[in-house]
Amino acid sequence: MANKNQHPAFEKFIHDLRAVWVELPDMEARMKQGQKLLEELVKDESLRQASKSWPSTEGRKNLLFHEDPDYGFAVNGVVRAPGRKGSIHDHAHAWTAYGILDGTESLERFRRVDDGLKEGYAKLELASVTEGAPGKVDLVPPFDVHAEQGGPTRSVAVILRSERVAGKVLQGSYSMENNTVRRIDGPTNIPYEITA
Ligand SMILES: [Fe+2]
Repeated sequence: MANKNQHPAFEKFIHDLRAVWVELPDMEARMKQGQKLLEELVKDESLRQASKSWPSTEGRKNLLFHEDPDYGFAVNGVVRAPGRKGSIHDHAHAWTAYGILDGTESLERFRRVDDGLKEGYAKLELASVTEGAPGKVDLVPPFDVHAEQGGPTRSVAVILRSERVAGKVLQGSYSMENNTVRRIDGPTNIPYEITA
């Protein structure tokens, strides 16, 4: 899916990301640069205004703004209803930069305390909770376990992924109550074009 978005700040974001992917061979280095670019993007007031009309992604959906035809990175949007309870998950081998554009969310990170050898079993501890407001970007390494909790109002996030995961590989879904992990398909990607 090429970039068909018509929003100046977003188009610049994609242009700059492509330059980073050309310049840097290492995925961690690319995503750290991508995190900085996303921090600028989610401070953009015109994009925040544009996001007011983005549709809800309730029901395990992601808006898909861009999947790069040459470098494979993907940019998604998530629009949460107020008070949305987020599930605990990982993004398999992909890197993810999660940026809050509008509203607030709590970004929870978990530590795995079992040895990972028992099939279907996972014991987690809450490692940190960060209050995410517009401009905040959380960089999540491969297989890091986390959850995003909706705030008191509608919230919108823009997500940069080193590659699309949903529909390609299964990702981890965790239960702290039952100490379980299972591999499930990611959210349904809905192609969406941003307009100014
Ligand atoms: Fe996530």
